[in-house]
Amino acid sequence: MKGLKNDEITIVIATNNRDKVTEIKPLLENIAPDISVHSLADLQVDIEIEETEETLEGNAKLKTDAVFNHLSDRFPCLITVADDTGLAVSGLNGAPGVYSARFAPMPEGKSPTYDDNVRHLLRTMENIADRKATFRTVIALKGRIPGDSSPYMFETTVEGFVEGEITREKTGNKGFGYDPVFWVNSAQATFAQMSTDEKNRLSHRSLAVKKAVEELRRLLILKP
Ligand code: IMP
Repeated sequence: MKGLKNDEITIVIATNNRDKVTEIKPLLENIAPDISVHSLADLQVDIEIEETEETLEGNAKLKTDAVFNHLSDRFPCLITVADDTGLAVSGLNGAPGVYSARFAPMPEGKSPTYDDNVRHLLRTMENIADRKATFRTVIALKGRIPGDSSPYMFETTVEGFVEGEITREKTGNKGFGYDPVFWVNSAQATFAQMSTDEKNRLSHRSLAVKKAVEELRRLLILKP
């Protein structure tokens, strides 16, 4: 890692989801003040990545791989970061899980909106008493950083989760996705009742990002 300067490190968040960028970017910027953190939109990268794997790990890695390959020539010292998140509901035997984005049945070629998925979840669970649920985020990291004699490539995953319950109706108007129906046990509120800062203190994604930050600091030999 000889000679590596922080301002030569480019971290790219491999998502087109603006809500995720809002949550992840400030946490990654904490790694070190002069490391640059970009979203795909910041770099004007237009790339659609289909989530074809059957695990959160697999889908997160698809995203880091695709964006890494796309930008590899542009940045000598590049780290791509991607998350994949699933909501596992106990009374639904772990569904929707890896299919959380595509839970509500839709006509061929149409994707459900957040609202379609939330309505479908509440309807499916009308007569289900066991409403325990877990949000799980897997973050994949892929990078090329200078090594002692040649570039050092790494690939790894970390995860974070938070326990809660599915409410009987939507509560709160912040956040995105299933936030209005996910009651966080430790906060006694839904995610949709929390500001970004509050959600970032305890969410599945922020816990995973914090682990990713520790891992990157270790790899880059940066002190907290
Ligand atoms: P993704 O595949 O990681 O984009 O996540 C799958 C789906 O889970 C998304 O379409 C959202 O509906 C939902 N989701 C992901 N993260 C969150 C979150 O932090 N809060 C609420 N819903 C989320």
